[in-house]
Amino acid sequence: MFAVYAARIDADNPLSGLETGERPDPEPPAGWSVVTVKAAALNHHDVFSLRGVGLPADRLPMILGCDAAGVDADGNEVVVHGVIGDANAGGGDETLDPRRSLLSERYQGTLAERVMVPKGNLIPKPAALSFEEAACLPTAYLTAYKMLFEKSGVQPGATLLVQGAGGGVATAIIVLGRAAGYRVWATSRGEAKRERALKLGADQVFPAGARLPERVDVVMETVGQATWAHSVRSLKPGGRIVIAGATSGDAPPAELTRVFFTQLSVIGSTMGSRDQLGRLARFCEQTGVRPVIDRVLPLAQARDGFEAMIAGDLFGKIVFNP
Ligand SMILES: NC(=O)c1ccc[n+]([C@@H]2O[C@H](COP(=O)([O-])OP(=O)(O)OC[C@H]3O[C@@H](n4cnc5c(N)ncnc54)[C@H](OP(=O)(O)O)[C@@H]3O)[C@@H](O)[C@H]2O)c1
Repeated sequence: MFAVYAARIDADNPLSGLETGERPDPEPPAGWSVVTVKAAALNHHDVFSLRGVGLPADRLPMILGCDAAGVDADGNEVVVHGVIGDANAGGGDETLDPRRSLLSERYQGTLAERVMVPKGNLIPKPAALSFEEAACLPTAYLTAYKMLFEKSGVQPGATLLVQGAGGGVATAIIVLGRAAGYRVWATSRGEAKRERALKLGADQVFPAGARLPERVDVVMETVGQATWAHSVRSLKPGGRIVIAGATSGDAPPAELTRVFFTQLSVIGSTMGSRDQLGRLARFCEQTGVRPVIDRVLPLAQARDGFEAMIAGDLFGKIVFNP
């Protein structure tokens, strides 16, 4: 089958290890199902994989991709939950299973004509969403959902600051947060992206690092090093940073004095559970929220999508059709 895969690891030049071509068809063990992929979304995770983050060279070649929507062996339209883990081993939450992985880390990923997953990782595709929209849910939108509704600890009406407004997770937080009644403020390096964030429903937008009119209750971080100092300074005393990513680097000064003196909380968040994915799908149906798609490309042109992501030249999700 045709697939997009990591053939080599290169921390500095990730695209040099990206290849497209034939890979073996999945051979599912008992309890697993093969899904014919109709749409698969790109995540920054796929770029990190090519850099060798979470993907050691001894697992190559590895088909990339954490998200897909498609059709299972029985003809059901499904969304693939990308966390392969045992909820019992994680105290009821598969994202806390010490042995959990995401598709494309240990098991072959979704940027392919077919992917195999445990049957328990399939949820029905919401009828109101296209395959392309549904393919955005399992990573970026699920991460945003958990950051907002499990980890932020604040109720609708509170003010959120979203760093790096153009990203896949960031746009997801804007649309989900807006629909849930939060006051959403966002920063972006680019004027055009700030304008688009306003159109999406952000209440106010600011250049990266700008002084805000007032301090916020929660900051939603996925940019990391480039925005960390601003995030710490933008919070009310007692506020929270929910962090799910570090695109620009993961070793900024920790600002420890400000963290303890203003009694901030730093809350890590990763993906979400299968049950949360099901509730996210229903949330989209109930509210009319639809994932923000930057562009849809044939899977054979995946390299163009990776280049745009590495350049930061996107607003929302890049989706591929096999
Ligand atoms: N923990 C999890 O489960 C989980 C799940 C999904 C994603 N993530 C992580 O979250 C991060 C975002 O993922 P994504 O797929 O949403 O990525 P993405 O679509 O590529 O978005 C990245 C955004 O970060 C901003 N950015 C990048 N470099 C920057 C820099 N040097 N300075 C300031 N802003 C910068 C840009 O926003 P502007 O251009 O608008 O400023 C860009 O749009 C990644 O690190 C990813 O690994 C984690």
